Amino acid sequence: MTSFGFSLLATNGAARRGRIASAHGTAETPAFMAVGTAGTVKAMTADAVRATGTEIVLGNTYHLMLRPGAERVASLGGLHRMADWPGIILTDSGGFQVMSLAKLRKLDEVGVIFRSHIDGSAHHLTPERSIAIQHALDATITMAFDECTKFPATYDEVAASMRLSMRWAARSRDAFARRDGYGQFGIVQGGIFPDLRAESAAALTDIGFEGYAIGGLAVGEGQTRMFEMLDVINPLLPDHRPRYLMGVGTPDDLLGGIARGIDMFDCVMPTRAGRTARAFTARGIFNLRNARFADDARPLDPGCPCLGCARHSRAYLHHLFRAEEMLGSMLLTAHNLTYYQRLMAGARCAIETQTFEEYAVATREGWARGDD
Ligand code: GUN
Ligand code: ZN
Repeated sequence: MTSFGFSLLATNGAARRGRIASAHGTAETPAFMAVGTAGTVKAMTADAVRATGTEIVLGNTYHLMLRPGAERVASLGGLHRMADWPGIILTDSGGFQVMSLAKLRKLDEVGVIFRSHIDGSAHHLTPERSIAIQHALDATITMAFDECTKFPATYDEVAASMRLSMRWAARSRDAFARRDGYGQFGIVQGGIFPDLRAESAAALTDIGFEGYAIGGLAVGEGQTRMFEMLDVINPLLPDHRPRYLMGVGTPDDLLGGIARGIDMFDCVMPTRAGRTARAFTARGIFNLRNARFADDARPLDPGCPCLGCARHSRAYLHHLFRAEEMLGSMLLTAHNLTYYQRLMAGARCAIETQTFEEYAVATREGWARGDD
């Protein structure tokens, strides 16, 4: 059995080209991970997800503990078996989703008490319970239990929230059952305050994790401040561990994150946009409900190998969305994930050939040029 590891294969400025090895195979980095909240990447079969080039899928502790329940997933052979995804699965730890979805939340030193957004039932999540659930799900990568600090917040509020997350990170590490080929990531918090981010990075590297995530960003601070925080945090993290920017982002955010040394990203953007007729392409974002596509016989994004681009016209995709046919969501989700994965593959190749900056410039020029 391979042990969990990260090898750094090449660098280009701060940008990194690497490979994650695990019990569930390898993943090339920089990597974009598809969000599969409830044990499915919405509107996609596992085969279709694989065909986009995706190597890591996310699951959510919060959703899966409520439905179908962690013990049920375990008795069905774990999330890999249940969802037909033998590859790497990363699960988020639940705190972030409790704060955005659950009702009647009560947070203290021990953890969070909340009511389910599905049936109102009461639940308690603690670092220990979150890590046990992620173990039952059989996550390849388990996330520490944290609080995603709200934005905006005062310095004192951010400091108190970050320090609570660091105490929870230590408890999360103690609760983690070490298994060959499995890893656990700590999550850096600290809002937009450089000294708090540095304190958080130091606390986590003292504990020691297989990887480090950056949380509490893309919550309204704006891209400029997000990038400033990455410039502060990334140099403080160990070179030989993967770095994961949580919940980010637009294609432009990914290029900026990669340029600053991020190895892993996840975001609902490509999948959610796909279900609402928005397509990411080499020429920017299109809304396929727009009347201008009604008679457009061209492929959505020439050169894209996805099914929708290879076999169908923009006019057909437009029709599917206007007629509210579910195939529109399926094809466009597959296209958007394919677009994100090809963007990442291009970035990996550019880092290897020391041309990442040129690649980013040329890619942004294509978006700016727009459709013909
Ligand atoms: N997803 C996006 N941001 C965060 C965060 O700060 N913490 C966790 N656990 N998940 C996230
Ligand atoms: Zn396509």
